[in-house]
Amino acid sequence: MSEAPRIIEFPEIGNSILGYIAVAENNNLPFEVKRIYWTYFTPENVERGGHAHRKLEQVLVAVAGTIRIKLEMNDGQRSEFILSKPDHGLYIPRMVWRTIKYSHNAVQLCIASTEYAEQDYIRDYETFMKTA
Ligand code: TYD
Repeated sequence: MSEAPRIIEFPEIGNSILGYIAVAENNNLPFEVKRIYWTYFTPENVERGGHAHRKLEQVLVAVAGTIRIKLEMNDGQRSEFILSKPDHGLYIPRMVWRTIKYSHNAVQLCIASTEYAEQDYIRDYETFMKTA
């Protein structure tokens, strides 16, 4: 069975008086980082995602706001995560169908294991269910 999505707790430095720093680096991530991008200003009525990736692994972080992520593996396992803590990340392995909604103030950081490649996307749900 392939690896399951899971929450990663990043080391947090600081305190409520001075503020905090959370750190992601190759030795506390499940893969070697190749790319980092972020999404923001997504309207609350928009659902994003609606795809899976053949190879890409990701860690998503809600550095601000709240992100609701629904996941499905093609063996039928489903899970749902709400990210709202800036020191938490959600590890999404390869071959996981995701749909994502954002609070108005959400900024989503994505730490990615590969460079951008359109051919890595599976955007058709039936194809996803049939792909090993
Ligand atoms: P997509 O990954 O589908 O976004 P989301 O899962 O948030 O809905 O990407 C949206 C569009 O942006 C899509 O046409 C591909 C493009 N894109 C790039 O050109 N480069 C990138 O690094 C990313 C992540 C997306």
